[in-house]
Amino acid sequence: MIITLDGPAGAGKSSAARALAARLGWCYIDTGAMYRAVALVALERGLPLDDDAGLAALAEAIRIAFADGRVLVDGRDVSAEIRTERITQATRPVADAPAVRDAMKRLQRRMADGLDVVTEGRDQGSVVFPHADVKVFLTASAEERARRRHREEESRGCDTTLAAVLASQARRDEGDRSRPVGRLEPAADAIVIETDSLSREEVVERLAALVEARRGAGRR
Ligand code: C5P
Repeated sequence: MIITLDGPAGAGKSSAARALAARLGWCYIDTGAMYRAVALVALERGLPLDDDAGLAALAEAIRIAFADGRVLVDGRDVSAEIRTERITQATRPVADAPAVRDAMKRLQRRMADGLDVVTEGRDQGSVVFPHADVKVFLTASAEERARRRHREEESRGCDTTLAAVLASQARRDEGDRSRPVGRLEPAADAIVIETDSLSREEVVERLAALVEARRGAGRR
């Protein structure tokens, strides 16, 4: 079975997806981390971020894997490095490149092949897994998303303000909504969950209930 979790930055997708996958014993695919990994290696190799074909070739050539909650590129743990602001910025042109998105789509489908998977991103239900068993679009107000991200960054020791987080989030939202391919939008058949007033546990409960309902429907 496949459950897709899409939505804007800060909607609580990653923590919910990780917890859901652990609870179900399923694989977890963090597709944002995959785009970040390509951006990291592109910078390391001095590849221009406007070289779409070069970036796509890079995306095809490196081996991205998830193991024990870590992100590995060719066996190297890049989990911390891909979360820096520098990589967040560099990921935008990488994720905007249609050829990279195409390579990622193929890779993500290969990763999920034959497995039970929770996959999380922007286009998982709309583009990559249009036949997913359960599609969810997680969202929250811009203020709530920024508050969560700010708390998270503070806990990682980053010195930043709520206003700065809100401004950077607004830029990312705009980019996510306006990219020509893989635009952030709920699939027509996605269930939208607004998480402002929900704890992470409540979100995971709802997701698990959707999976259970789908399994039940499959048995009938
Ligand atoms: O979710 P996260 O912040 O890690 O995503 C990193 C970047 O990758 C963002 O710029 C986001 O727009 C992009 N992305 C994407 N498609 C996905 C997942 C992430 O374009 N499926």
